[in-house]
Amino acid sequence: MPTTYPPDTTALITGGASGIGAACAAALDKAGVRVITADIAGGDEYVDVTDPTTVTALHERIGAVDILVNSAGVVGPSAPLTDVSLDEWQRTFRINVDGTFLMCREFAPGMVARGWGRIVNLASIAAKDGNPNQSAYSASKAAVIALTKSLGKELATTGVLANVVAPAAVSTPMNATTDPAILARSQQLTPMGRMGRADEVAELIAWLCSESVSFSTGAVYDISGGRASY
Ligand SMILES: NC(=O)c1ccc[n+]([C@@H]2O[C@H](COP(=O)([O-])OP(=O)(O)OC[C@H]3O[C@@H](n4cnc5c(N)ncnc54)[C@H](O)[C@@H]3O)[C@@H](O)[C@H]2O)c1
Repeated sequence: MPTTYPPDTTALITGGASGIGAACAAALDKAGVRVITADIAGGDEYVDVTDPTTVTALHERIGAVDILVNSAGVVGPSAPLTDVSLDEWQRTFRINVDGTFLMCREFAPGMVARGWGRIVNLASIAAKDGNPNQSAYSASKAAVIALTKSLGKELATTGVLANVVAPAAVSTPMNATTDPAILARSQQLTPMGRMGRADEVAELIAWLCSESVSFSTGAVYDISGGRASY
């Protein structure tokens, strides 16, 4: 069955100016979806996902959307937990967790009102494995998985699906600031022996945002070159 989207579908992609978000924008645009990228640094629209005022202002500017991909995120501190400052910990949670929460809270009701919607949140293999020297990132992405599972159940009969994608290391600008030792460890743990590409992750997300997916919500989709084992 070909991947299809309802007519006149609009997708909103946070973090859409870079990496996986930008690749999603390209994949959905190619599929004929109207795409709006929102980012703190570039994109079609400005949003700081940690700031409810800018999230609401974005909603007021663009109206309801049919697809929401929450790709805005940061890797946070690369250090042992005992060396992580409370500020670094909280900043990682504000962007990765509060940001995903605020965007879902703002845009899910419009999807429910229209009886169709797709939400895809970006977690990470770190959420399942608990990467050493990435406690803030790992814990924040575990929270993204849990909040999406809750939301998926809450919306299960509304026509709105909420799912999670959990990639292993992907070659994007984010990893320019990741400790090389963490990336080397990730590659070593990955049976395919390489990092993923943003366009490979975007293919999975674009499919999860389509009409082809109808009986899956609150689910976690690994894309990890074989690294994920549960
Ligand atoms: N690259 C990887 O290895 C990898 C692996 C697993 C999961 N992920 C997740 O995928 C998502 C995308 O990562 P990426 O690799 O494309 O990163 P990236 O750094 O290339 O892009 C992230 C984007 O988020 C934006 N952003 C950051 N803070 C923001 C804020 N407060 N408000 C709005 N936008 C903000 C940045 O400006 C940037 O454009 C992230 O959630 C990341 O945790 C990435």
